[in-house]
Amino acid sequence: MSSYNESAKPKVTTASLMKMKASGEKIACLTSYDFTMAQIVDGAGIDFILVGDSAANVMMGYDTTVPITLDDMITYAKGVVRGAKRALVVVDMPFGYYQGCPDIALASAVRIMKETGAGAVKMEGGSEIRESISRILSAGIPVCGHLGLTPQSVNKFGGYGVRAKGEAEAEKLLADARMLDEMGCFAIVLEKIPAALAARVTREVSCPVIGIGAGSEVDGQILVVQDMLGMNRGFSPKFMRRYGDFGDQMEQALSRYVDNVKSVDFPNESEQY
Ligand code: KIV
Repeated sequence: MSSYNESAKPKVTTASLMKMKASGEKIACLTSYDFTMAQIVDGAGIDFILVGDSAANVMMGYDTTVPITLDDMITYAKGVVRGAKRALVVVDMPFGYYQGCPDIALASAVRIMKETGAGAVKMEGGSEIRESISRILSAGIPVCGHLGLTPQSVNKFGGYGVRAKGEAEAEKLLADARMLDEMGCFAIVLEKIPAALAARVTREVSCPVIGIGAGSEVDGQILVVQDMLGMNRGFSPKFMRRYGDFGDQMEQALSRYVDNVKSVDFPNESEQY
């Protein structure tokens, strides 16, 4: 079986994502946090791999994304960059490493770019972090914005509900999206907002808009890979479609292995030297 990479497709860049928006080709994005998964995700033809700070939840078992550190993100991103031959790899800036001070923000983004070899960073928020985004962009580092449900602010929101349902929050989101676009962000992720609002943002900004729980009238979609593969079995929000039951399949395979070891069925004659 040949993988998608064997067709020697050129590497995806921020410029290619802009071209995809212009031509109407939808952008397929997923998260990954390690080399093995990144190879599989990349081989499937995913355009944009996000090393999300959702690693805090799916890789480290935290309840929120707040505790993950810059060192944690860099470790995950190094593996993903080695595994992704074609996709653009974008790394989340973790909570506490960019919000307060543009100098700290730039130092964090520079570490990500130098130590991982990724192509871009992603940051949650709008006008509140304008100075930090501007400093990073002016250093030549591509930035993807993230508006709507911004999980790093869960303690302010008090949960993970749909955002921007009311007029005031929707107006602020629109203004923030226009600002990010005008500043030169190469894409904006919109998480868990009404589909009509996401469609309006997508029409109004020139950069690609990637949705998660934001309807179909955006330029691309992103999901957390463990969620959509059914590995994170307790998690099934309305916006998520499951493309497999790999959690169950892995557990069944592993319990077959346990049985085989206990019954001395593994290894057999042909599996030893
Ligand atoms: O951290 C993450 O995985 C994300 C996506 C859900 C967009 O930010």
